[in-house]
Amino acid sequence: MSYPGVYAERGLFLCFEGGEGGGKSTQAKLLAQRLTELGREVLLTHEPGATEVGQKVRQIVLSPETGHLDDRTEALLYAADKAEHLDKMVRPALERGEVVITDRYVDSSLAYQGAGRALEPAELERVLRWATGDLRPHLTVLLDLDPAAGLTRFAERDRIEGEPLEFHLRVRQGFLDLAAADAEHYLVLDASGTIEEVAAAIGARVEALL
Ligand code: TMP
Repeated sequence: MSYPGVYAERGLFLCFEGGEGGGKSTQAKLLAQRLTELGREVLLTHEPGATEVGQKVRQIVLSPETGHLDDRTEALLYAADKAEHLDKMVRPALERGEVVITDRYVDSSLAYQGAGRALEPAELERVLRWATGDLRPHLTVLLDLDPAAGLTRFAERDRIEGEPLEFHLRVRQGFLDLAAADAEHYLVLDASGTIEEVAAAIGARVEALL
């Protein structure tokens, strides 16, 4: 089954994806500043945990105290965070014609819960497309980094960061496969470049979309 995807007619929906420690939040912030300076209204947001309910979900899925979760439970919790995030924040901002920049979205679930865990990819994708009404970013910036390098940046690890290196290697490949399957909607960058280099490449691509 193929999922055609829905693209917002108003506003611009941008997403940052990638493994741990690739500088997504830094780059998302820099892009938000750049677009604000260009006079655009920008909503800078993230998953999981941007809404009130989402914060509770984030606590459950990331706290090491939660311990083991069934793969389906974990996937459904992330999917619920997405549904809430879209309803309360993302769609309203797009309808107002704003630029929405989200740090993580559906691809994170396809990579972490799909490629990382043992869920059947097509089934998981169906759940996620349903949860989000299949709304897709106009552009996803994938900050690609060797997980062995990315994970060294954390002294304390949450439930997901604490997974073994093999898990994070599958996640990385999952992201790269998603980008390769739909090159038009992705910008894949080597996250080991300097902050300035990476920001310049993102800025150039996004400004072309405005
Ligand atoms: P963050 O540290 O970038 O805020 O992301 C939280 C963690 O949750 C990160 O390890 C990736 C993971 N995650 C998923 O496993 N599935 C998802 O759908 C999302 C959004 C994040």
